[in-house]
Amino acid sequence: MCGIFAVVNDKSNQAAQTTLIGLKKLEYRGYDSWGIALIPEKRKKIKVEKHIGKIGQAETKLPNGNIAIGHTRWATHGGVTDRNAHPHLDCKKEIAVIHNGIVENYKVIKSNLSNKGHVFKSETDTEVIAHLIEEKSKKVPIIKAVFDTFNSLVGSNAIVVLDTNTETVLACRNGSPLVAGIGNNQFFLGSDVPAFLKFTNRVHFLHDGEAVVLSKKGVKLYDLKSGNEKMLNAQILDWKMEDAEKGGYQHFLLKEIVEQKNTIPKTAKINKPALKTISEKIRNGYKIVMSACGTAYYCTLAAKYFFAQLGIESETYGSYEYLPFTKFANKKTVFISVSQSGETADTLIAARAAKKQGAYIVAVVNARGSTLERLADSTLSVGAGPEIAVVSTKAFTAQLSTLYLLAHYAINKPEKGISKIYQLGKSLEKWINTKLFTQITKLAATLINNEDLYLIGKHLNYPASLEFALKIKESSYIHSEAFAAGELKHGVITLIQKGTPCFVLSSNDEAKDEVLSSAAELKARGGKIIGISPVKSAEFDFHIKTLDLGDLTFFPNVIVGQLLGYYLGIGRGTDPDKPRNLAKSVTVK
Ligand code: F6R
Repeated sequence: MCGIFAVVNDKSNQAAQTTLIGLKKLEYRGYDSWGIALIPEKRKKIKVEKHIGKIGQAETKLPNGNIAIGHTRWATHGGVTDRNAHPHLDCKKEIAVIHNGIVENYKVIKSNLSNKGHVFKSETDTEVIAHLIEEKSKKVPIIKAVFDTFNSLVGSNAIVVLDTNTETVLACRNGSPLVAGIGNNQFFLGSDVPAFLKFTNRVHFLHDGEAVVLSKKGVKLYDLKSGNEKMLNAQILDWKMEDAEKGGYQHFLLKEIVEQKNTIPKTAKINKPALKTISEKIRNGYKIVMSACGTAYYCTLAAKYFFAQLGIESETYGSYEYLPFTKFANKKTVFISVSQSGETADTLIAARAAKKQGAYIVAVVNARGSTLERLADSTLSVGAGPEIAVVSTKAFTAQLSTLYLLAHYAINKPEKGISKIYQLGKSLEKWINTKLFTQITKLAATLINNEDLYLIGKHLNYPASLEFALKIKESSYIHSEAFAAGELKHGVITLIQKGTPCFVLSSNDEAKDEVLSSAAELKARGGKIIGISPVKSAEFDFHIKTLDLGDLTFFPNVIVGQLLGYYLGIGRGTDPDKPRNLAKSVTVK
């Protein structure tokens, strides 16, 4: 939640404009409001610009200067107002602070500072940080004041502080992502790499308990508890600037959906040593327990079917519901945590709880340098590249194909899994084309004014339906609800009336006939049946033909949902890249 950006020694001397460019890349992390603080040339007082709403095509009128910080907000404490937007200042306007996280003890800090005469201008928890640093810096140097302040905050937080007196940017991390970019004599901070990828791919992902100080001379790394300087070993990422650009597409969401024809087969090339290590444990009797949230949770549900069909037992939990079951994890558990960001609070809590029980933690993760990756014993990095759209698509399919491969490694048939994933990539390459887009656009046009859609699927097509429905909800705000086909007669069927759109997801498999019987039952109640399937059937009023790939039909069936959500969103005037109320990484419980 919230996007953070900073630049020091900006080459163009237009640090505010550079910050705006960075913030536009981070808008997917929060888009209630945005703000920039800058030290203008030859002046000591910080200049601030703040606005509510999306950053979109915004421009900044801030003057020249080579040092600035900026923030896109996803509100937690305090409504969406200019005043509550970050950055927040101290009383003397010499310190500006931006923040990602929640300061759980902010009320106590605020009341102590108020008693000392500090005046607060916002309702946020963040503003107390600026004033506490101001108070502490009366007695100690700014670096110590910042570290001491940060160490006294309760909660998962990342802060970035702009200090006019030393002309430095100081940043601290505990539980919220922060990455430093080391460019050619100009230095950056971001919540995520795409923010500054245009300028550098040389990075250091801050660990919890680390801080950096950016000055004209460079970036210094510190341990927050001791205050001692540490060795900074920057790494070069293989990400390119184009990865964070729309590349001719109108939206990142569409670009990322199309990219799946490359990102899925890429998973068959990577992670081989880790897949071997983890699969050996599974063969040696370790029990698989998976955990994740949202789309990533549906990925684990689908993986459970993939494991089962190869004779491997597994369990999965929404991470937010895992704690009552933690006690069953032990030294013979492989605990697979799936996450695009690797920063989802509930996912991390579940993984830490399983780790405490002695479980072997596997992170199936897309973003780089994440908290999840650091706490895991082994990482399957799914390599889908930066996923900018808030709605997860390519990360989901890359995670699932990685788990599909793991299942094949576990039964000692890696080559079979690899060749099936390559084949899937080739089939998607041909199938994802203008003809498919036209068909789905036509379908979207018939559904645009519906407020309720229902979906059914059986076996693998059940998690496919859940994920399909989530894509529609997120991208178009249409209420869409998925059920296991077998659940239909146990209550759900009351919802069906004349003309109710009912999606029936099926594959050419053992469950097909049963699902089609359910489709017939829906049709008999007036339902308008939309078949998503490789095979046409008499029950369908509308049919999107997918690919006949056995168990891997799951993938094209879900991709139809991703595309349909996208086109419905466009038709209904939503912003498919940034759905309302959502943030790309949910770093609070
Ligand atoms: C759906 C979506 C969310 C995330 C969920 C978990 O499109 O993006 O449901 O899947 O918030 O996020 P990660 O994968 O980062 O743990």
